[in-house]
Amino acid sequence: MMWIYAAFILLLPEVWSLGPGTNLNTSANFNDSSIGGDVVRHSAFNEWSDVDLTCSNKTWDETLYVIWTIQLKYKDECKISLDDGGRRVDTCNDGKSLRNTSSDRPYLHIPNFTNGDEGVYKCESVYKGGSVRYEINVAITVPPSISAWFEQEDNKMVAVCKAERGKPAANIYWRHAGNLSDVKTSSDLDGFFTAESRLEISDKMDTENLSCAISHLFWREEQILVPKPTKGNVPWLYIPAVAVLVFFCAGVLFFAQKKLMILRQCQQSDSSPAKTAPTEDVEEVEPYASYVQRVNSIYNSSADLFT
Ligand SMILES: *[C@@H]1O[C@H](CO)[C@@H](O)[C@H](O)[C@H]1NC(C)=O
Ligand SMILES: *[C@@H]1O[C@H](CO)[C@@H](O)[C@H](O)[C@H]1NC(C)=O
Ligand SMILES: *[C@@H]1O[C@H](CO)[C@@H](O)[C@H](O)[C@H]1NC(C)=O
Ligand SMILES: *[C@@H]1O[C@H](CO)[C@@H](O)[C@H](O)[C@H]1NC(C)=O
Repeated sequence: MMWIYAAFILLLPEVWSLGPGTNLNTSANFNDSSIGGDVVRHSAFNEWSDVDLTCSNKTWDETLYVIWTIQLKYKDECKISLDDGGRRVDTCNDGKSLRNTSSDRPYLHIPNFTNGDEGVYKCESVYKGGSVRYEINVAITVPPSISAWFEQEDNKMVAVCKAERGKPAANIYWRHAGNLSDVKTSSDLDGFFTAESRLEISDKMDTENLSCAISHLFWREEQILVPKPTKGNVPWLYIPAVAVLVFFCAGVLFFAQKKLMILRQCQQSDSSPAKTAPTEDVEEVEPYASYVQRVNSIYNSSADLFT
């Protein structure tokens, strides 16, 4: 037992710095901790990145088998494993695979990491002379969509800064404002966060250089936004829109009228009353007329009999 722990301690720093999976551009690793012999790690990876998870730094020469037991948030548990005899098991069937590094060390490859790949990835690597077990809590990093604007609220001007559907939640603060404002953070059913900060603008406040800063795990540097007067009741913004609408309606009316005039001209040239009236009459009167004719002929023939 003691030497297994010794192996852990020797191994840990190496595992951290091991090739794939620890690419700082696409992932963030948090401090490892140990629960009952399993090393517990928390990692976050960027949406749509290719993720590589490493279990041990042993090469295939030394390894007897590697098993990954994967508990995804929205799926049943599944396993991916490979042993030294080349026997593979994959009950996940979702594109994840065991691969070798150039130095012949096994790792789990997850292509195009998405929200559905979040979960707990447990691995066990058994090699000649020992074993390691990891429990990696894998989260996704999704940058929020960000926007900032001024709006009217109860006769007051408010600057709003919003970071929508990010993972994890974004942080917002105002620059050059002299006062920090509340940040309201809400979370969706699928675990995405929306953060919104509203800053009341007092009369004395100079809004010339007002901006908000949004920081998020996805970005190295915070994003600076200058609020724009795009939302709320700003009448002069609607004037161009109304003008365009009026022109459009006028155009439609003009063409409609022209069409109507053409139609009328067509009708007038086509339909002299002398032509249309008789055809209608013939259609309506004809069945009656033929009936009368037949009845008359019967009368006539019977009249002939009696005479
Ligand atoms: C990695 O290399 C070993 C030995 O060379 C081989 O048995 C194993 O199948 C390889 N694994 C993969 C995923 O290519
Ligand atoms: C990753 O998956 C998303 C959604 O499933 C897709 O839109 C995107 O094109 C994929 N990216 C790559 C590089 O395959
Ligand atoms: C900040 O705002 C709070 C309440 O909105 C107010 O009480 C406080 O005086 C403000 N501080 C500054 C420095 O403007
Ligand atoms: C706003 O920023 C500009 C350029 O940085 C600076 O010249 C100006 O004095 C600032 N205005 C205020 C009110 O701080």
